[in-house]
Amino acid sequence: MQEKYIDETKQGEAFAVAERPDNSKKLFLESYGCQMNFSDSEIVASILNEQGYNTTANVEEADLILLNTCSIREKAEQTVRMRLSQFKNLKKEKPTLTVGVLGCMAERLKTKFLEEEQLVDLVVGPDAYRDLPNLLKETDDGRDAINVILSKEETYADINPVRLGGNGVTAFVTITRGCDNMCTFCVVPFTRGRERSRDPHSIIEECKNLWDGGYKEITLLGQNVDSYLWYGGGPKKDFKNATEMQQLTAVKFSQLLDMVATAVPKMRIRFSTSNPHEMTEEVFRMIAKHDNICKYVHLPVQSGSDRILQLMNRQHTRQEYLDLIRKGKEIVPEISFSQDMIIGFCTETEEDHQLTMSLMREVEYDYGYMFSYSERPGTPAHKKMEDDIPADIKQRRLAEVIALQGELSRKRMQGYVGRNHEVLIEGTSRKNESQWKGRNSQNAVCVFEKLEGQKLGDIVTVFVYDNTQGTLLGTTVA
Ligand code: SAH
Ligand code: F3S
Repeated sequence: MQEKYIDETKQGEAFAVAERPDNSKKLFLESYGCQMNFSDSEIVASILNEQGYNTTANVEEADLILLNTCSIREKAEQTVRMRLSQFKNLKKEKPTLTVGVLGCMAERLKTKFLEEEQLVDLVVGPDAYRDLPNLLKETDDGRDAINVILSKEETYADINPVRLGGNGVTAFVTITRGCDNMCTFCVVPFTRGRERSRDPHSIIEECKNLWDGGYKEITLLGQNVDSYLWYGGGPKKDFKNATEMQQLTAVKFSQLLDMVATAVPKMRIRFSTSNPHEMTEEVFRMIAKHDNICKYVHLPVQSGSDRILQLMNRQHTRQEYLDLIRKGKEIVPEISFSQDMIIGFCTETEEDHQLTMSLMREVEYDYGYMFSYSERPGTPAHKKMEDDIPADIKQRRLAEVIALQGELSRKRMQGYVGRNHEVLIEGTSRKNESQWKGRNSQNAVCVFEKLEGQKLGDIVTVFVYDNTQGTLLGTTVA
C-alpha cells in the first residue's frame, strides 16, 4: 500500500467483483491519483452496473471508456492527456465508443476537453456521478454531455460500491468528501468542493457488509478525516449554537473510530488522511484503546519551516506538529508515521530546506511521499506568489529529502527486525511466487514463505529476521 498517489496508469486492474452477470455493455474504467479517486470509481461502477454496464480490463471490447482523473500535479494531468489521445485513435476505428473524463480534471477544465480539444464526449465532476445515466442518454443521442456541479451535501452514502481490482481483503470506505482547508498550493478545494461528512450509520453498514463479504481491513478515507463531524442528520442551523449542537448529536472522528472499531471488532482499521492542525489526542487514545485500529498515522507536513508553512496556509507550526507527534508516541509507543512533503515551494531558501530535513530526522518517519512543487492554475499560490525556485534546485533538494527518507525508512525497518509481527496476508509477493506479502500494524510491508494451510486474508504471526529499505523479511511462527 505504499503506492498512495498513482500518477501512472494501472492497466488491467479494472476487473470487478459482484457485478450483474446479465449486463451486456462493457465499461473500461481507469483511475489516477489518490485513494479517494479509486474509491469514487467503485461508486461509478456501481451506478453504471444498474445501467447495464459491467467493467472490463480489455479496452478493445469497451463500449464506454471512463478516466477518473487527478489534477494534483501537472505530471498527473499530462499522463491523462496522453491516455486520452490514445483513446481518440481508438474512437476513429469504433465510432460507437463513448469516452469520458471524471474526477478532478473534469472539474478543473470543465468544457475545455469538449469544446477546445474535442478529446471526449462526456465530462463529469466528482459530485455529479448520480447524473451519469442521464448524461449517457445524451451521448447515446450523439450529443456531448457535461455535469460539473459541485454539491454541499452529496456523500453517495446509500450507494453500495462495486469493489474494483482489489484483493478481496482490503477496501476503502469514504467518510468525508471535499476540503475546506485552502492550503495555498492545493487544487483539491476547487475540484472537490466543500467538505461534508457521511452519515455514520451508512459507514458502519458498509463496514459490516465488507466484513460479511470476507474483507479483513478497511481504510476510512477523507481529504481530512479529523474534521469528520456528523450533526445527527440535522443541518447546522437547527441548533442554537455550536456547543449545543456538539452536546446534542455530533459525532466526531474519534467517536466514529470508536463506533467502527466496536461494530467490526476483528476488522483491521486504518484511516487517511490526518491533518496536523485538526488531529486530536483522542484519536491516538482510540488507537491505544482498540487492538483492531492499526498503529499508523499518515500525517502530511509539507515543510519543516514555519515561514513556508505560513505561506502554504497550513494552520500549524513546526513545534505544534512535533508536539502532536510526541503525544502520539507517548500514547501509542509502537506507532509509526509517514509524511507528505512539498519541496521547492515559492521562496523556499536553503535554510527552510534544512529545517525540513531536521524535522524529518526528529520525527523518524517510516515512509514518505515527497513531491517537487507544481504550480496549479487558480490556486492562491498561483494567483499571489511566484513559482521562483529553479527546477534544478528543486530537483537537488528533492533528491536530498528522498535520500534522507530512505535512510530513515531503513532505520525504522531495522527496528522491526528480531521480533514477531501480526501480518495480514494481502497477496503473493511480486518478486517471488512462493512468498506472501502483507503488512504489519505499522503499515510496513512484509514478505515471507508461504506455508500450507495459509490463505489470502489470514492474519499470521511472522518473525522478522531481516529488512531492506522498505520491506521486512520474515518467516511464519508455527
Ligand atoms: N489531504 C489530502 C491531500 C491531498 S493532496 C490527502 O488526502 O492526502 C496529497 C499531497 O499532494 C499533499 O499532501 C501534498 O504533499 C501534495 N501536493 C498537493 N498539491 C501539490 C502541488 N501543487 N505540488 C506538489 N505537491 C502537491
Ligand atoms: Fe489540499 Fe490542504 Fe485540503 S493539501 S486536500 S487543501 S488539507
